[in-house]
Amino acid sequence: MRNTRRTLVASAAALAALAALALPFTAHAQTAPKLKVGLMLPYTGTFAALGTAIENGFRLHVAEQGGKLGGREVEYFKVDDESDPSKATDNVNKLIKRDSVDVLVGTVHSGVAMAMAKVAKDTGTLLVVPNAGAGAVTGAMCAPNIFRSSFSNWQPGYAMGEVVAKRGHKKVVTITWKYAAGDESVQGFKEALEKGGGQVVKELSLPFPNVEFQALLTEIAAAKPDAVYTFFAGGGAVKFVKDYAAAGLKKNIPLYGPGFLTDGTLEAQGDAADGLFTTLHYADSLNLPRDNAFRLAYAKTYKLQPDVYAVQGYDAAQMLAAGLAAVKGDVGKKAELASAIEKAKIDSPRGPFTLSKAHNPVQDFYLRQVVGKENKMVGVASKALADPGRGCRM
Ligand code: PHB
Repeated sequence: MRNTRRTLVASAAALAALAALALPFTAHAQTAPKLKVGLMLPYTGTFAALGTAIENGFRLHVAEQGGKLGGREVEYFKVDDESDPSKATDNVNKLIKRDSVDVLVGTVHSGVAMAMAKVAKDTGTLLVVPNAGAGAVTGAMCAPNIFRSSFSNWQPGYAMGEVVAKRGHKKVVTITWKYAAGDESVQGFKEALEKGGGQVVKELSLPFPNVEFQALLTEIAAAKPDAVYTFFAGGGAVKFVKDYAAAGLKKNIPLYGPGFLTDGTLEAQGDAADGLFTTLHYADSLNLPRDNAFRLAYAKTYKLQPDVYAVQGYDAAQMLAAGLAAVKGDVGKKAELASAIEKAKIDSPRGPFTLSKAHNPVQDFYLRQVVGKENKMVGVASKALADPGRGCRM
């Protein structure tokens, strides 16, 4: 009897040991822990639609990979950042400390993105910025673990400066929200305009996210410039384009801007947007096989047409997919992961792009014109335009 008991105890122990041995294998082969993706985006306020489009695009690519990145099933954690820089550090810490996310994706607003980049840099968390163009993110704050799938504010501004100069406009008034994105967009525009012989004669602004444009429109009418350059996006862009036309300015003073002015906004802007020229790394009529497939899948899934924000979300997932595939989902292999993203050629709906040393897309900027409900591509304003990455030491 004693013997039997001893045998039982021994075989139970042996079984337990076997199970312990087997566990890591099964865990790895079938049930690797989920990859926690933290989405920090605006779901309320003037940029709410942009946040949703980014999330839609991101989820579409992940769904096309069977719900996985780097072989690991994706689990989402979300925070509404409200495009509020004063709440940004707390919000990003909710994802990092409370939810222990493996990777961070966000955001739209440049001021919020800079706060995210600081925390990402301090904690070493992998961050992909799917919109915000703050120069510092791929400039002074650049880091091995920080990437951008979108643009720098300088890029579409610079491309438009070249266009406006070539069109022979000499005296230009600028109008924007007073924060990093508006300031940097105007800077890029001015740099190219001045090179081409033009001049910014007046810089107008109002605080983000205000939309009381009347007094400023009156100033524009009085200044009688050859053209106006503007950075607005989302709900603010809808109202600005309508107010500009309603004030009677559209027929006398041509309005130009980065494509955020008319992307994802045309339904709401109606006729007021008709004919506007903008520069952007995306357009509605590229007619590239990759883009056609993307647009069809997006429309089927969401019963909506995609816009530049959806593309940037989709490509944020593509960049993560490239990095995570190289390390088989092991986010701990930081150097290998970063180097795989750095070297990736992203097969984007916008056209293929690579990343600069500072991790910002090197890409073509299209000249587009609003025709009906489309941002129609009418040419390439700037080919393979790279952000200068000023201040990045990496
Ligand atoms: C930004 O804050 O960087 C920003 C926001 C909305 C855009 C583009 C840039 O459409």
